[in-house]
Amino acid sequence: MISTRRGSEHARILATGARRPDRVVTNEEICEVLDSSDEWIRTRTGIVTRRFAAPGETVVDLAAPAAEQAVQRAGLAAGDIDAVIVATSTHMVSMPSAAALTAARIGAGPATTFDLSTACAGFTHGVAVANDLIRGGSARHVLLVGVDRMTDVVDPTDRGSAMIFGDGAGAAVIGPSDTPGIGPTIWGSDADQWEALYQTASWTEYRDQVGQARRTGGEEPDWPVITMMGPKIFRWAVWEMAGVARKALEAAEVDVADLAAFIPHQANVRIIDQMAKQLKLPDQVVIARDVIDAGNTTGASIPLAMDRLISEGQVTSGGLALLIGFGAGLSFSAQVVRLP
Ligand code: UT7
Repeated sequence: MISTRRGSEHARILATGARRPDRVVTNEEICEVLDSSDEWIRTRTGIVTRRFAAPGETVVDLAAPAAEQAVQRAGLAAGDIDAVIVATSTHMVSMPSAAALTAARIGAGPATTFDLSTACAGFTHGVAVANDLIRGGSARHVLLVGVDRMTDVVDPTDRGSAMIFGDGAGAAVIGPSDTPGIGPTIWGSDADQWEALYQTASWTEYRDQVGQARRTGGEEPDWPVITMMGPKIFRWAVWEMAGVARKALEAAEVDVADLAAFIPHQANVRIIDQMAKQLKLPDQVVIARDVIDAGNTTGASIPLAMDRLISEGQVTSGGLALLIGFGAGLSFSAQVVRLP
């Protein structure tokens, strides 16, 4: 016989934290190297400014202050955290994980640590995993950080992607609850469509190409960057993701009229507004539009947007929010949560 553990009946988000890099980058600055215009970027994406991390400011440098803020707001000490999960696609070393380095930085060393790589769906995947860890008895308090430094993987001259991305980190502490705080997660992928968003060369291909160029005196290759079929993802997001969001509401048995907020991945204001329209959200539902001055921060976009709605008092504690993350993979996840 194997003795098993059972955790808390329910889990919920206890607090959030954020780290927005200091440097604000305008559309005019983006257009210094990109063949575009402030007007085009505003009308096609809604983005007015985004933040860029400083040279040498890594994903761990961004993650740590967001994490510390969330832990402190949850009324906990770093030592109370049992698991640290970092959702990121831009941690530039293969080991150790960004989670291990973040835990060490904030003094949560004994916690179990691991990274989660589902790009823009990273945070909502992490909410699902944290919920199951707590309910299954594997952890009591989980620190979840969504963080990306997209400037490392974006070509500033690429008209298909350069204008939308930014850097940042958002965090949440998830812990036990007497009442339901996280609804069932609807998740999955359209893996056959992975080519809609991918890195143009692997690090080993890049290394080999550099070696070849040095041996032959040829031209050195460009740093690997991401390439994106924007319109294809746009259509997928608008048509398929509204259905996923609807299923998350049904699974939680929550009506749109009961929502306080809709916090989708912050990719493009036009996608957010189209999804809200399809979901027929009533006027009183607050719609997160953090993308306007944060850009698309990939794994950080949902926790940053949530943190802002709470910090600015646009939502009150205990309200219900519908979350949906979607992007590279193509992967997606959605759930209804009770706001901290
Ligand atoms: O977070 C990860 C997942 N990613 C996403 O969710 C991104 C989803 N996609 C998008 O947000 C949008 O597709 C983009 C913002 C990337 C592009 O906007 P779009 O409205 O889909 O533009 P488009 O590519 O269909 O291009 C429309 C027009 C074209 O000109 P014509 O053929 O109509 O004359 C393009 O050549 O806009 C032109 N264009 C640009 N013009 C100025 C395309 N990119 C640019 C640009 N600046 N950067």
